[in-house]
Amino acid sequence: MELRQRALEILGLTDPDQKTAQTLALYAAADTVALDPRAQLAPTGQPLPGHPARPQLLHHTEVPRRPPSTLQGRAALIHAIAHIEFNAINLALDAVWRFAGMPEPFYRDWLRVAAEEARHFDMLRQHLRTHLNADYGDFPAHQGLWAMCEKTAHDIVARMALVPRTLEARGLDATPLIQHKLRAVGSPDALEAVALLGIIEREEIGHVAIGNHWYAWLCGRAGLDPVAHYALLVAQYQAPRPKPPLNLRARRAAGFSETELAWLEHQ
Ligand SMILES: [Fe+2]
Ligand SMILES: [Fe+2]
Repeated sequence: MELRQRALEILGLTDPDQKTAQTLALYAAADTVALDPRAQLAPTGQPLPGHPARPQLLHHTEVPRRPPSTLQGRAALIHAIAHIEFNAINLALDAVWRFAGMPEPFYRDWLRVAAEEARHFDMLRQHLRTHLNADYGDFPAHQGLWAMCEKTAHDIVARMALVPRTLEARGLDATPLIQHKLRAVGSPDALEAVALLGIIEREEIGHVAIGNHWYAWLCGRAGLDPVAHYALLVAQYQAPRPKPPLNLRARRAAGFSETELAWLEHQ
């Protein structure tokens, strides 16, 4: 067994329970599993990423929004976040297998991210089942996150720039606003969701930090200015702009410089 090949196999799994369990098992064994950074791997025909028959996947404008004041609305909200976590597992596994020629810590970092995303998904799924009379698959979802993964499949610099430090960082910005809404609802399930989102946010700061670290490393290797090149990539790949207010505390903890934050605030 080789770590990157195994990440590719797990990425193809369709069953969420198998995907999370095998991701966590691979992470637990990571120190003893062989790692070949040079291998040029290719999928063996299975569609990537593997995903279950449900949720139904729609364009993001077709996914209905429901207010979190009702149980059904909170179920839809937590389901949407669980789906983001499911895709986040896939995104992290994709970084592990796809990009050859990086230093070993790159692969171990992204496997750690995949394992943390698997735990986030499991926590939110458990919350849906225990408190919200729902399960993963019960609501339609969209594939916005994975679309950026496909667009950047041939450009590791763009992948690091636009997935962790753009899309995951937008998640950092959104978290306090979602927590605020749930606190206002005030029901026991809503308050537990606030706590879960707090646990998730702490680890998400680490994911964005990993993205920032490897983006800076890649820019250094290629002699690129990280701020100027980021602006080019945002335009080239039509990356979503940050939605203010930025979560400056979390973004600073994740390693964004004051220059980058000032640039982002004026987008
Ligand atoms: Fe996550
Ligand atoms: Fe993440």
